[in-house]
Amino acid sequence: MAVTPEPRQWWRSAVIYQIYPRSFADADGDGVGDLPGITSRLGHLAELGVDAVWLSPFYVSPQADAGYDVADYRDVDPVFGELSDADALLARAHELGIRVIVDLVPNHTSDEHPWFRAALAAGPGSPERARYIFRDGRGPDGALPPNDWRSVFGGDAWTRVIETDGRPGQWYLHLFDTKQPDLDWTCGDVWAEMEDVLRFWLDRGVDGFRVDVAHGLVKAPGLPDWDHDQEMIEGANADGERPPMWDQDGVHDVYRSWRKVLDGYDGDRMLVAEAWVAPADRLARYVRPDEMHQAFNFDFLVAPWRAADLRRVVAESLAEMGSVGAPTTWVLSNHDVVRHASRLGLPVGTPRPHGIAAQDPQPDAELGLRRARAATLLMLALPGSAYLYQGEELGLPDHTTMPHDVRQDPAFHRTGGEEIGRDGCRVPLPWQHDAPAYGFSPTGRSWLPQPPEFAGYALDRQRGVPGSTYEMYRAALRLRRELGLGSGDLTWTEAGPDVVAFANAPALVVTNLGEEPVSLPAGAEVLLVSGDLVAGPDGRPAVPTDVTAWVRA
Ligand code: GLC
Repeated sequence: MAVTPEPRQWWRSAVIYQIYPRSFADADGDGVGDLPGITSRLGHLAELGVDAVWLSPFYVSPQADAGYDVADYRDVDPVFGELSDADALLARAHELGIRVIVDLVPNHTSDEHPWFRAALAAGPGSPERARYIFRDGRGPDGALPPNDWRSVFGGDAWTRVIETDGRPGQWYLHLFDTKQPDLDWTCGDVWAEMEDVLRFWLDRGVDGFRVDVAHGLVKAPGLPDWDHDQEMIEGANADGERPPMWDQDGVHDVYRSWRKVLDGYDGDRMLVAEAWVAPADRLARYVRPDEMHQAFNFDFLVAPWRAADLRRVVAESLAEMGSVGAPTTWVLSNHDVVRHASRLGLPVGTPRPHGIAAQDPQPDAELGLRRARAATLLMLALPGSAYLYQGEELGLPDHTTMPHDVRQDPAFHRTGGEEIGRDGCRVPLPWQHDAPAYGFSPTGRSWLPQPPEFAGYALDRQRGVPGSTYEMYRAALRLRRELGLGSGDLTWTEAGPDVVAFANAPALVVTNLGEEPVSLPAGAEVLLVSGDLVAGPDGRPAVPTDVTAWVRA
């Protein structure tokens, strides 16, 4: 009898490394990273032991939001190279056994996209305008925005256009920057175009897509006012109302249709949702069997460094994703948040910072790194798929004292500096401690300044150095694979209120967030630690505060 092989579903347990192309490696020396730079450094990622990379956008773009404002979805921006460089990157990654996920930005285009230009030229009521969300203004002469929505980056979510007759006319919606007009997902053209974009990249061999702002595509009919703060993470308000711009039921029709597109291809391609929704059962709706394969687990990322919070988030995440048969994902850092080595160096309970500037209380770098290493070993022992952000394998902190005049994040500029923004986590990587731009670019140019302490984090200072953060990550990824932790099962172990402890056979994992050392079971074989063990009161090796240990009990 023929046996149908199980689909491989590599993504269920994969470690996926996020490359931020602007800041990874710059081959041509203009100070901005590029695709040839990435390809030349893929050996590093093979040596680190990741299963896949996710590339933030490298498409044609005026770079008003670092490439999340796309003017041509089917070509590479000259700053990053050309289409043949994308093909070469894919080929080299696949040769090394690394899968490649690309970013898809379907909520908005750039205002320099040919569609938006055509919409401006064609005028009110035209089919060209129907692809975006144009509305007449309120008030006399339509001088007021159509509703009260705010941009995630600050200011109004609407901009008024000058019509071809030279007069102020309609308004268009942009949940982000003025240069990122929202598409109208009730328009058939938009559906057809994005499916075609999916096919374009699937045909070139990509293994999947990270879907930007996946919870934002569909807006509530009539675009009702929303008299509340408008952060990216929102659940229902106290009255049980849901924000009209996020997490509308209609988005799921989009993902059901995309899933069919992907299922038409071989090679187990996948979709991962960037959906800042709460609570976890709302997130689980994005990964139902006929929708996406994964969703980022931002509850884990924002959890305070407290054992009870971490246990709760881990348990809830596993239960909610498990209820729809999806794997859980884990993530601690990305290009939108303060890196965990800096975040965890702030006092416990500090609300998630939107950037850190020189005038702000500075993180304790040593404590932050100690906790970040412990958090990472906790994360990498959990069943499911884990996302790493470039540079975290070096223990890299944010640049927390960057001068304001070099900042590029539209969130900084649109809020008049009230929100510091995300530049601090986007600083180009240090590869070599004594080279120009720490080895990022051959000319020493760098689109954001690298702080002098980056020399100490450079890869060449850590490679082959026992106990370095880089060697810890490498050992963790090797062991995780050998022990099958990503596809394992978690069983909680009781070890006290300030401890996160669980078995993921055959490993016992202990993260100590309390003051007192936690003794390991007698005779336990230590597999990996994020910091030195101490002698416990009973003389046995013990896990001190802010350390994670993996042992075989
Ligand atoms: C997502 C991206 C972020 C971008 C925003 C608008 O949240 O991760 O970097 O600014 O979408 O596209």
